[in-house]
This record gives sequence, structure tokens and C-alpha cells, in this order.
Amino acid sequence: MTMSLLELFTEQYKLCGLDATQTVAVISEVGKKAEYVEAAVAAARALGAGSLVLGASSLSNPTLPPYTSDGREVPALLAAAGHCDLVIDVTVGGLIHSNVRTNITGKGKRMLFVAEPADVLQRLMGNDDLREQVNAAAEILKQGSVLHVGSDAGTDLTLDISGGDLPITRQWGFVDEPGRWDHWPSGFIACFPRDRSGQGTIVLQAGDVIVPLQKYVRDPITLKVVDGYIRSIEGDGADAFLLRDYFERWNDPEVYALSHAGWGLHPAASWAALEVYDPRSLYGQELRSVSGNFMWSTGSNRFASRETPAHLDIPMRGCTVSVDGRAVVRKGELQRLMAEAAN
Ligand SMILES: [Fe+2]
Repeated sequence: MTMSLLELFTEQYKLCGLDATQTVAVISEVGKKAEYVEAAVAAARALGAGSLVLGASSLSNPTLPPYTSDGREVPALLAAAGHCDLVIDVTVGGLIHSNVRTNITGKGKRMLFVAEPADVLQRLMGNDDLREQVNAAAEILKQGSVLHVGSDAGTDLTLDISGGDLPITRQWGFVDEPGRWDHWPSGFIACFPRDRSGQGTIVLQAGDVIVPLQKYVRDPITLKVVDGYIRSIEGDGADAFLLRDYFERWNDPEVYALSHAGWGLHPAASWAALEVYDPRSLYGQELRSVSGNFMWSTGSNRFASRETPAHLDIPMRGCTVSVDGRAVVRKGELQRLMAEAAN
């Protein structure tokens, strides 16, 4: 049965442990996604929780330059949202890489970003099993030293994940722990390898996805990575040319940096999402979460003090992903080694 946004938010709040003793802050942009704001407030009310709506006039979310960082509203947003127990972010771009997020979660508050259409929210709603799998994957990364990715298409990439203190983002689509941030829906693990450690070749093949350009790659693209930066983008088709042009527009060497890397674990997420939906109506969480994808990204890395809005997430199919020689994804198939790794 198709659920309403109100029903979906109510179910989500239960996963997040919201009760009548708590207060929800809803951060939005004035005049945008009003139905999400209304549902977030009504669902909190249905559970007896208080709620507060914070509407910023607008927040910067450029897909092409120029970029101006968010300004005067941010301290006020932080001051108000920081007093609430659960912060629901329904801004257009999401306060993902900004200091708004880290300031809120740093105070032990939970924060959840919501952007996808209702039926995607419903179909990919998180659950305990997904959380267990993601946590087990995080353990494998935490204990690892070398992350390697290979594919028949020619990908051969090595990343240094040693040290035991690797920043790891665990996303299962709800926030049930103090200080936790997540994006509803999600089902993937991502780590931030040692900065400038990436070496090798990435070959994007037909069916791989570039988010947020919301497109499938159609023509192969070969990217050479040296010391954690993309040094060349080659390919005969239009895709290589367009990706080169996209990067060059920013006129910023940091857009070529590799950022996070990991893999998808959501059994219900589909590669076909960009075909089935209007791609521009999606934020791309379904593609990020497809079970057995290898997802890497460019640009922003708050753990390396690198801020650039040119942040691409690139889920790839058919890859073998190994941690210290142990395959966690084999030719695009997620390996069910997770429970064993957690023990
Ligand atoms: Fe990302």
C-alpha cells in the first residue's frame, strides 16, 4: 500500500526513537518542499513530540559555478536547531558537508536529511538488518589497511585505509543513536581513505552512474589517479568530454581530489532508478545504495579540510572490492561475510 508522507514520517520517527519528551527541528528553505515540512510537523504531533520549523531564505546549492558559501542564516539556524533532540533537514541540497551538520551532531543531537520522493522513502525504509550489515562493513574497514578495487573493465585502484582511526560514514537511513547523522533512505558504507593516498586507474563503464548529474555513463571513461587526485580523463565518447568540462568549469584543483569510498548494501535499491523515475526528481540515494556497487567520490572532504561544492558520487557496477585481499564485493555481488566480520 502506498503510504502518505505523514505515515512515512511517523514510521521513520519510530525508527529514530522519537517520543513525547522530545522536540523536532525542521530546517527548510522558504517556499520549497512544503509538503515535507507539513508531514514532518504533523507526524511529530501524532507522536506527542514538539516541533519547530526553521525556514532559511535560501541556501547555496550550485550544480555549476559560481559558488558562494552560506552566510548569515547559519548561526541562527544552529542556535535554534541545537536545542532540539532531532533535526530534520528538508533543504533542497542538504546540509551535508556544512558545519551546520557537525555542530548539531557534535552536541549529541540526531540529524536526518530527507529529499527523495515518497515512494522511494517507503520502498527503501531502513531496518535493523540493514543496520547490522552496515555496521559489520564498517568493522571490516576499520580493521583494514588497504582497499583495492578492480574490474574487468580495467579499474585497478588502491587506497590507504590504515591507522584504525579512519573516518567512516555508516548510512542505514535512520538516526537512533546520539550524535548520529543519516540520510533517509540509505544503505551504504563509506570511508575517507588517507588523503592523497589513491593510486591507479578507474574505468567507468556503461551503466555506472554519476550523481548528482543524475546520468548513466554510456561511453567508457578512463581516469588516472595519482596521489589521490584525478590526473587525466580520457575516452572517445561524449561522456569523457562532458566530465572533463564539468571539472574544468570550477577552476579549482581540489575538485579533482578523491574523497570517500565504499560500497552499497541495500537489497531493495535498483540500478534502474534513473530510468524508472524522472532523474531530476531524485537525489540519487537509490543508486548510492545499490547492493554491491563500489561508490567513490570527488572533491569535498571535511576530514582533510577540503571544501568544494563540486562533489560527485560515482556508484560503479561489476567491481571487486577487497580489504586486505578479502573480497567484500565480488564482480558487483555483495559478499555475505558481514556477520562473521562483526564477531
Ligand atoms: Fe558523497
